[in-house]
Amino acid sequence: MSRFRLPPILRPRLTPKYVVSSVAAIYVVYCWLWGMPLLSSNLPAYTGPHSVGVIDIESPCDGRKTSDVKFKSTGEPAFLLETVLFSVYYPAVKGAKSDKPKHLWVPKPLAITAEGYAKFAHISNFLTNSIFTVALWGIAGSTTIQANVDVPLRETAPSFKFTEHREGKPEVGNDGFPVIVFSHGMASSRTDYTHFCGELASRGYVVAAIEHRDGSSPGSMVMNIDGTERPVYHFGLGELDVDNSFDTPELKQAQLDFRQAEIEETVRVLRAINDGSGATILEMNPRKEGDDLPNWEGKLDMTNVTISGHSYGATGALQALKGAPCPQRPFHGGLILDPGKSSGPLNHDVDVPILIVHSNSWSKKHSIFFGQPHFTVVKDLVMDVNKRGRAAWFMTSLGTSHPSVTDAPLLEPTLLSWTTGSTIDVIDGVRMYVNVTEEFMLFQKAHRRTGLLALEVTHPDYDSTSNGTQEMPELYHRFWQIHVAPDSV
Ligand SMILES: *[C@@H]1O[C@H](CO)[C@@H](O)[C@H](O)[C@H]1NC(C)=O
Ligand SMILES: *[C@@H]1O[C@H](CO)[C@@H](O)[C@H](O)[C@H]1NC(C)=O
Ligand SMILES: *[C@@H]1O[C@H](CO)[C@@H](O)[C@H](O)[C@H]1NC(C)=O
Repeated sequence: MSRFRLPPILRPRLTPKYVVSSVAAIYVVYCWLWGMPLLSSNLPAYTGPHSVGVIDIESPCDGRKTSDVKFKSTGEPAFLLETVLFSVYYPAVKGAKSDKPKHLWVPKPLAITAEGYAKFAHISNFLTNSIFTVALWGIAGSTTIQANVDVPLRETAPSFKFTEHREGKPEVGNDGFPVIVFSHGMASSRTDYTHFCGELASRGYVVAAIEHRDGSSPGSMVMNIDGTERPVYHFGLGELDVDNSFDTPELKQAQLDFRQAEIEETVRVLRAINDGSGATILEMNPRKEGDDLPNWEGKLDMTNVTISGHSYGATGALQALKGAPCPQRPFHGGLILDPGKSSGPLNHDVDVPILIVHSNSWSKKHSIFFGQPHFTVVKDLVMDVNKRGRAAWFMTSLGTSHPSVTDAPLLEPTLLSWTTGSTIDVIDGVRMYVNVTEEFMLFQKAHRRTGLLALEVTHPDYDSTSNGTQEMPELYHRFWQIHVAPDSV
């Protein structure tokens, strides 16, 4: 006798992911029914002295595979590097108007991102994909990124100065704008950190935010110049044609290797632009942006690049520092935000200055990482770099939570503080990261310790019951604990 069977969607496995997505879905429906705005539809404006431009650059790669692993369903290679995609944020000519519409925060086609999120929640089917698409459209479908698309790059100021409000105002000469290459976290994309990137651009930095196609993004469209397109969704072990010896750590390593190849390709494209091949990069860009790139010759400081990343991207940034600086990875500094707790081992082999910033929740939550407390692993890593004679810092930004540096809290402050426990004002949260990044960039360029980086260790270990010390300037006292700093010079 056959029992009455519910369709699979109504027989959920009560996994945390299912619960989270259900809560999110209920929240969406609730807001929709009551006509409440889900998210403030606008991201805040940037506050630095410069206007900000943004260009999406997709550029063909050599089509190399970074691993031989294939998809079960299609037999196609899973780690095939056809193109690299990044958004470059840059200081633009004052008042320049763009004739192109602003970029959407959720890139088109929206359904790809939606399907990707549904797959993350392990409930991908036609019905849930449609629900996610509508939800995503309702949440953020019309949110645009503040930067002006494809406006001209600002003249490199012959006396380019790190921001005026810093003490000392060192002149750093005309080497071109300092460049930061940024790598996103798990379940994110190139558009998840637009305020952080754009705010830095408004203060004179060029930031290239990569979109990784390693199966860790919800979804991304690979566009070729011949007009062909290939969606890449989030994928897991189950979708790969592998035997038992290929386990989760192997998958993570394969993803990190793919990410590293994308980082190197981003550097290659930026270098080509700086070397005067901007017109070719524009011509080969299927996203049809970059009218100003032919004028970027010599405008970027490609000898002294900073690698940065958040979460999975932070683990990747550390990996990319192995052997750096070298021609493919001309990195002279690393800005590492919340290095992953489950994205594989952290590379200790670092020979350039680094700054590791933990969000409060990252330091507060005790977790075991390859047999040791995660905090201890990170601290030892930073102390090792100092022992090698490179300046390295490790600190916690109080009041923040893991997503504080992303755009998410700016778009949905209530939901985020409620689910992640951040207590800081959301804009302050991002700006803390921007401020300390500037101080780190200044150190990397001019070897000057300013602001927070000039201070001594306040808390060798994270202390959840205390703020900074009274000796810290008022500005930092509420916001920071410093765990490792270079010996005073
Ligand atoms: C960032 O730095 C500026 C200038 O020093 C300061 O006014 C502002 O309060 C800082 N913001 C945060 C959140 O630390
Ligand atoms: C990076 O820039 C700073 C300041 O211009 C300089 O002191 C340092 O030597 C540079 N590093 C390299 C390898 O060019
Ligand atoms: C830490 O700073 C916050 C914000 O200023 C304040 O409310 C709190 O009382 C401080 N806590 C301690 C232990 O000093």
